[in-house]
Amino acid sequence: KNISILGVPLDLGQNRRGVDMGPSAIRYAGVRERLEALGYNVCDHGDVTVPNRYGQETEDHLKHLQAVVETNRTLAKKMEDITSNNATPLVLGGDHSIAIGSLAGIARQYQNLGVIWYDAHGDLNTMETSPSGNIHGMPLAVSLGLGHKSLTGIAGETPAIKPENIVIIGARALDDAEKALIQKYNIKVFTMHEVDRLGMSEVINQTNAYLSDCDGIHVSLDLDGLDPIDAPGVGTPVVGGLSYRESHLAMEMLEETENVTSCEFVEVNPILDEKNKTAEAAVALIGSLFGEKIR
Ligand code: ARG
Ligand code: MN
Ligand code: MN
Ligand code: MN
Repeated sequence: KNISILGVPLDLGQNRRGVDMGPSAIRYAGVRERLEALGYNVCDHGDVTVPNRYGQETEDHLKHLQAVVETNRTLAKKMEDITSNNATPLVLGGDHSIAIGSLAGIARQYQNLGVIWYDAHGDLNTMETSPSGNIHGMPLAVSLGLGHKSLTGIAGETPAIKPENIVIIGARALDDAEKALIQKYNIKVFTMHEVDRLGMSEVINQTNAYLSDCDGIHVSLDLDGLDPIDAPGVGTPVVGGLSYRESHLAMEMLEETENVTSCEFVEVNPILDEKNKTAEAAVALIGSLFGEKIR
């Protein structure tokens, strides 16, 4: 099996500098070696080019809009190339706005793509509802076809994702407009409440059953889905999160089904981190998602 690593050093989808160093931090934590030890052929495609941040304007309450669009267009094309070459894409972020391009690119190869959104947030804002103007709070809405034309247009005519093919896990900081959108589209969400009530094992069983009609599944893992104790190096930490342990269980159980066809690990910010702890957590979770076992 082939894995293609692609870095996206983008920090323009949010306010805090440093998340552009996420791909380096994850590489430094040994992602490639970890996957090669599992027997994969790993090709590191390097980083997608990101435009310079200076001179980037806010348009329609969307910060650095043109740079985010340009980066995601390039990313979508690379993702299309990787998937059509029969390799599993592993995308390293970068802020979560890069999910716009990765989903747009992958969706070109799938008719009924599913997405598991592992995150403290819903990332379901649009320019009308966003409290911040940060595009990293919008990628799931954009992938549904909601938001600024220059963002939704990256996927083409058809949105990358259908609302019934989304599962959000770990939510605990939803804006009011996001809650309304979840209700309107009847999106499946396992908030922290459901994770606590059911346990992660049942959450993943139900997730697999819910997405069983999908022809591919993309795991989009925002490290802020984890509790800040385990993943302190993120720009928008929220207390009361998923533990390192239950996150490992989630990755292991997803791997067992052999349904995951692509993934991304985003929001690692080494400037805010403690001795690369968050990048190391990301690499350990990547190991589990690709079949690493304790024994
Ligand atoms: N809901 C907030 C916003 O829209 C926070 C989003 C955080 N997103 C993330 N990918 N970390 O600004
Ligand atoms: Mn499609
Ligand atoms: Mn988040
Ligand atoms: Mn996110």
